[in-house]
Amino acid sequence: MSDQANNNEKTFTLTNDETGESCKLPIKTGTHGPSVIDIRKLYAETGHFTFDPSFTATGSCKSRLTFIDGEEGILLHRGYSIEDLAGKSTFLEVAHALLYGDLPNKAEKEDFEKDIRYHTMVNEQVHYFFRGFRRDAHPMSIMCGVVAALSAFYHDSLDIWEPEQRELSAHRLIAKIPTLAAMTYKYSIGQPFMYPRNDLSFSENFLYMCFGVPAEPYVMSPVLADAMDKIFILHADHEQNASTSTVRLAGSSQANPFACVAAGIACLWGPSHGGANQAVLEMLAEIGTKDRIPEFLARAKDKEDPFRLMGFGHRVYKNMDPRAGVLKKAAHDVLEDLGVKDDPLLEMAMELERIALEDPYFVERKLFPNVDFYSGIILKAMGFPTSMFTVLFAVARTVGWISQWKEMMEEPSIKIGRPRQLYTGEPSRPYVPLAKRK
Ligand code: CMC
Repeated sequence: MSDQANNNEKTFTLTNDETGESCKLPIKTGTHGPSVIDIRKLYAETGHFTFDPSFTATGSCKSRLTFIDGEEGILLHRGYSIEDLAGKSTFLEVAHALLYGDLPNKAEKEDFEKDIRYHTMVNEQVHYFFRGFRRDAHPMSIMCGVVAALSAFYHDSLDIWEPEQRELSAHRLIAKIPTLAAMTYKYSIGQPFMYPRNDLSFSENFLYMCFGVPAEPYVMSPVLADAMDKIFILHADHEQNASTSTVRLAGSSQANPFACVAAGIACLWGPSHGGANQAVLEMLAEIGTKDRIPEFLARAKDKEDPFRLMGFGHRVYKNMDPRAGVLKKAAHDVLEDLGVKDDPLLEMAMELERIALEDPYFVERKLFPNVDFYSGIILKAMGFPTSMFTVLFAVARTVGWISQWKEMMEEPSIKIGRPRQLYTGEPSRPYVPLAKRK
């Protein structure tokens, strides 16, 4: 029940049906989206915690960065629509908006790009880390290690209470993670690491570090560089998702930003989150031919079968993921530029999408294609192995993670995140000495 308190603050009254006791909780309203019930005094006033294990109805923080309307399929960064950003801006412009609040003007853009470029190289010692890994290690396992290791190298930007050091760490992370990601790829295929080229744009340089070789000049495709930039923009931030919440929670303990982002990378790895783009391609390969789609749809609907249609469904979007729409078009552009006609994977993805969108199971549950459904097809066409897909997601999401971390650190006070629980274990019982245990 919602009512109006004396001081004009909207409140929500919670009543215990058994005792009749009630508690008035303030309602807080944001710019867009549902308002929230501020339960911070709930335990002190009622002795109860709330119970929301997967955070389906919990706002964990205030944020000015990203807004999602899952029902309408809207995604805004700093108020700008994702369609505008992906169609008209560069990735580093979006990074500037996320970090500082606005798209940069011309001078700010030049300064920001120069700052990021300045930090693209990694300490030469980092190269030795790679040698410790097996060549067939999953690239995300290497990323978890080498990104965490950055905190061992950049001691001059680890003081989280100094705004200049926080900014320096943010720039270093945005600049160096692409270099580390490309090194991870080169290591896996036994090719030499390519040093960054600061005359190239962010995405051009990334493609160069991945696909260039010292023996010959690298020919850049503007269509591929543009598609890479779009993929990075579309993955830059996504509100309080699992990995971003991980970064914020790690940061709330005052851990350094390199360690926090490494925690985010670990969380992103799972197939329910960033690992889904790899899982989509593996699923398409497993389906193999269009005539087998009904068989796999039946499996996805069978509650006894753990199989899920990868790239479908989203915790927040109950409509088309706006990022999937942009990528569907980009997939066609990339395949055309590469001269790929009638790509069987793309055809199968489109057929799967068509059939699933007509199927009552998917319609009733509002399961639409998400960002990962088309990104894998583009990345594969570009030449990336599936194991690198989640790494590319991490390159882009670093901007969101570090912007969210920066926002949290700029709050007037920071309190460690510490959820509580509903204990369902044994009640208190007497200790039994070993000799008497049955
Ligand atoms: N295939 C088949 N059934 C599904 C799927 C799917 N992909 N997704 C959800 N469902 C069903 C689910 O079984 C449940 O059915 P019922 O109500 O009969 O029990 C209903 O839809 C609601 O699902 P849920 O598991 O309660 O939804 P959730 O919000 O917990 O899960 C999700 C969201 C993304 C983890 C899930 O949709 C999923 O596993 N999708 C496939 C993996 C994927 O594509 N992940 C990428 C997400 S986007 C990128 C990112 O954010 O990292």
